[in-house]
Amino acid sequence: MSYTCGYHQIFLCFCLLFCFSLPFPVKSDELHLLLNLKSALNKSTTGVLDSWGAADSICSFNGITCNDGGFVKEIELSNQKLTGVLPLDSICQLQSLQKLSLGFNSLYGPISEELNNCVKLEYLDLGNNLFAGSFPDISSLTQLKSLHLNNSGFSGVFLWKMLEKMTNLTALSLGDNPLIRSPFPNQILKLKKLSWLYLANCSIEGKIPPAIGGLTELVNLELEHNHLSGEIPMEISNLHKLWQLELYYNNLTGKLPVGLRNLTKLENFDASANNLEGDISEVGYLNNLVSLQLFKNRFNGEIPSELGEFRKLVNLSLYDNMLTGPLPQKLGSWSNFDYIDVSENLLTGPIPPNMCNKGTMRGVLMVQNRLTGEIPATYGNCTTLKRFRVNNNSLSGVVPAGIWGLPVVDIVDIAYNRFEGPITSDIKNAKEMGILSVGYNILSGELPEEISEATSLVKIELNDNQISGEIPHGIGELKRLNVLNFHNNLLSGSIPDSLCSGVSISDINMAGNSLSGKIPSCLGSLATLNSLNLSRNELSGKIPDSLSTLKLNLFDLSYNQLTGPIPQTLSIEAYNGSLVGNPGLCSSTVELRSFKPCRPDSGMSKDVRVLIVCLALGAMVLLASLGCFLYLKRTERRDGDRSLKEESWDLKSFHVLTFTEDEILDSIKQENLIGKGGSGNVYKVMLSNGVELAVKHIWNTESNGRRGQSSTAPILSKRAGKAKEFDAEVQTLSSIRHVNVVKLYCSITSEDSSLLVYEYLPNGSLWDRLHTSQKMELDWDTRYEIAVGAAKGLEYLHHGCGKPVIHRDVKSSNILLDEYLKPRISDFGLAKIVQANSGKDSTHVIAGTHGYIAPEYGYTYKVNEKSDVYSFGVVLMELVSGKRPIDPEYGENKDIVSWICSKIQSKESVLSIVDPRIPDGLKEGAVKVLRIGILCTTTLPALRPTMRSVVQMLEEAEPCRLVGIAVGKDSEQKKEHH
Ligand SMILES: *[C@@H]1O[C@H](CO)[C@@H](O)[C@H](O)[C@H]1NC(C)=O
Ligand SMILES: *[C@@H]1O[C@H](CO)[C@@H](O)[C@H](O)[C@H]1NC(C)=O
Ligand SMILES: *[C@@H]1O[C@H](CO)[C@@H](O)[C@H](O)[C@H]1NC(C)=O
Repeated sequence: MSYTCGYHQIFLCFCLLFCFSLPFPVKSDELHLLLNLKSALNKSTTGVLDSWGAADSICSFNGITCNDGGFVKEIELSNQKLTGVLPLDSICQLQSLQKLSLGFNSLYGPISEELNNCVKLEYLDLGNNLFAGSFPDISSLTQLKSLHLNNSGFSGVFLWKMLEKMTNLTALSLGDNPLIRSPFPNQILKLKKLSWLYLANCSIEGKIPPAIGGLTELVNLELEHNHLSGEIPMEISNLHKLWQLELYYNNLTGKLPVGLRNLTKLENFDASANNLEGDISEVGYLNNLVSLQLFKNRFNGEIPSELGEFRKLVNLSLYDNMLTGPLPQKLGSWSNFDYIDVSENLLTGPIPPNMCNKGTMRGVLMVQNRLTGEIPATYGNCTTLKRFRVNNNSLSGVVPAGIWGLPVVDIVDIAYNRFEGPITSDIKNAKEMGILSVGYNILSGELPEEISEATSLVKIELNDNQISGEIPHGIGELKRLNVLNFHNNLLSGSIPDSLCSGVSISDINMAGNSLSGKIPSCLGSLATLNSLNLSRNELSGKIPDSLSTLKLNLFDLSYNQLTGPIPQTLSIEAYNGSLVGNPGLCSSTVELRSFKPCRPDSGMSKDVRVLIVCLALGAMVLLASLGCFLYLKRTERRDGDRSLKEESWDLKSFHVLTFTEDEILDSIKQENLIGKGGSGNVYKVMLSNGVELAVKHIWNTESNGRRGQSSTAPILSKRAGKAKEFDAEVQTLSSIRHVNVVKLYCSITSEDSSLLVYEYLPNGSLWDRLHTSQKMELDWDTRYEIAVGAAKGLEYLHHGCGKPVIHRDVKSSNILLDEYLKPRISDFGLAKIVQANSGKDSTHVIAGTHGYIAPEYGYTYKVNEKSDVYSFGVVLMELVSGKRPIDPEYGENKDIVSWICSKIQSKESVLSIVDPRIPDGLKEGAVKVLRIGILCTTTLPALRPTMRSVVQMLEEAEPCRLVGIAVGKDSEQKKEHH
């Protein structure tokens, strides 16, 4: 007692000293508390707290509201870029605090149980911050009406029980936190006043309890991105006030409940990406719908005709179901309609004509249906249209001219229909068009010269039409052009030289036309070219020597009228079929036996010929000696591997090395060459201590952009300011240590080129072991181990070393095998190094290899981890099928991905994909791995699994385990898919 009294006395003393000068003693405490808060969080760049302390009264501070007594009642500081650790001890001393609103900031650290001292709180928003740890038990905050903790970084277990006494809660947001999985929390079902419930993406599993129907005040119910299964309970139709119902990305089954029609206030309904079936007639009654999303289910039956009368509907996404019948013709004609995606169904009848009535439509996505009729003429004036994709239908008629020149259109894709008429000069207005895909129609007329004004074009697919005339000469002005498919048309004239200025071209197919004249020799300078098909034309003249510098995955000049000798480097067995049908070609090597040997003109006697050859040789020897003499005398230029030691080299080592720079430089010579890659030559170096290394010699890809050039004069150029970037990159890469990643020991750089020193792996690459003459019998266990190991290596690159390292060129030839056939990823990040080493604008450098390149690569240039995942999926397909990514067997324009896609309809044909060398008993296991490969090669990057989940899935597919594959879902949801 006396103790307390003592305090009182002291307090009185203090009052005597200070209180009379300060009119509101307790409020001055509040000032103090607020200033504590300010100093804890005052890193805001918005300056919101600057006035704090300067203003006369705390009640006029920004974000502060007081009650009648002048005490702080509300703190409203959401979305102010605040950062720091929340000083709860100070905040919760504000005795009248009812509202604490701090959402959308960058607050971090843990939240402690001190929060319980804020007993009067009715509104608490800590959502969208960077807190850590689990959320504390705040049972004493029983007066809470709104609790927002969504996307705030809390993990672990959420103590649902603490909600029990918060019976006044009307809004609860807990979604987007990495919580431990739990069943649907029954405590919530007692919160009868709830009108807003956001439990998306917070690891809820099991069924939606029927008692949810008791929360009749609910206006918003969001349960998307969980692991919910079972049926949607019919009691949900008691929620008459519902305005929004979000159930997408779960594993719900069964039909839409009867009675759903009673939710007449519903404006947003999304049950996409579940396992729902049956018809969708119930939604025909929901005439206030603004957005209806039911994609990726197994719905069948017709689209209710009532949807055509919905006055507010602006978004409709029903893709990937089994819907039949016609689209309501008045669909979208009432509102500011935005987009429709009904792709991948079995719909018939015409495209609704008035969806762009209000001039707001952005997307028409109707690929792969059975639609008939013409493109509505009004769409040619729909200037807001960004995507127009109706491929794979039975549409016909002339394409309205305006379609070609829509000002903001990104994709025009009308392939696989029966469209006719020309591509018109309107295309000059299509400044944002990235993809023009019109293959497999009966389009005719000439290709307008104005196509070169559609400067965003990345991909032009005109194949299999009846387009005639010449190839527009300005085509090479399209600087982003990547894919050019002109095959199977009636094009004539010559291949324009301007094509060679197309700096990004990776794929040229002009087969099956009537092109004549010579093959432009400048094609050899297209650094990014991966695939060149000029077969079945009337091309004449010689094969330019320059083509031998290209490193192509597909090369076909067959059935033309080419003459003369086949360049030495193209005279290899693999190109045999690529050159047939050219009776005028001759070969001077034995590899190409089907060609006549090259002989000098007959008519001269043998003696004369011998004489001429001798004279010529003599002259050459003379000239060569003279040349050598002058060369040695005059120049210090070091431009060949042999003169490497004359350069000044800088060794950057990030580890203790057992070799010296000289030892490496001495070994860079022809006899040690073991491979040529797109970016440089690879040498095998045997150190004096017996250790073997692989050394990659990289030179600049700029200037003419020649790649893989094997002559003694690689195109070298200054690295200048890029050097730092290069070094930084090498440092990152050499810090990577993982059993499934090839070790990079150091880099040795000079002004002009660089050497990267790697560990040497004796068993070469997976590509060689699977596909080449040095094939090995790899049994299924070995292949499986290779798959898992390589996946782990990539996972490590993506997730294991701080900043993700994107490989950019994942392929079986970049998976090397050690003596025990354990895999190691090589050449990771090389694309970026090469790029850093050259002066090129990164957006125009396309790395990757034909057959492995993810589809988005073609038009976005935005590479991320998911592009690697795609390429890895292709490797899995190679492992399972034993086939190459590109093979004529798949049919024209098909790669292993589309080939496998076409085969996965029935179990028998799936089993036929599996390499016949794998015994029957193991085929099931191989199919599991194949399924993972298919997931990885999903068109939409967001839907591909991460490498982390690929590793998990692969481990579950282990040959001797009988566990099914859990299909990993990516949390990113994309409503607009096509
Ligand atoms: C709920 O709100 C009512 C009315 O504002 C109030 O009387 C009651 O005490 C509150 N209940 C709790 C548990 O705070
Ligand atoms: C989804 O539910 C079906 C049927 O209940 C089940 O077979 C399947 O494994 C579930 N899928 C996932 C990913 O949970
Ligand atoms: C729908 O509402 C009507 C009238 O309010 C009611 O009679 C009917 O039972 C409800 N249907 C369902 C399935 O809840």
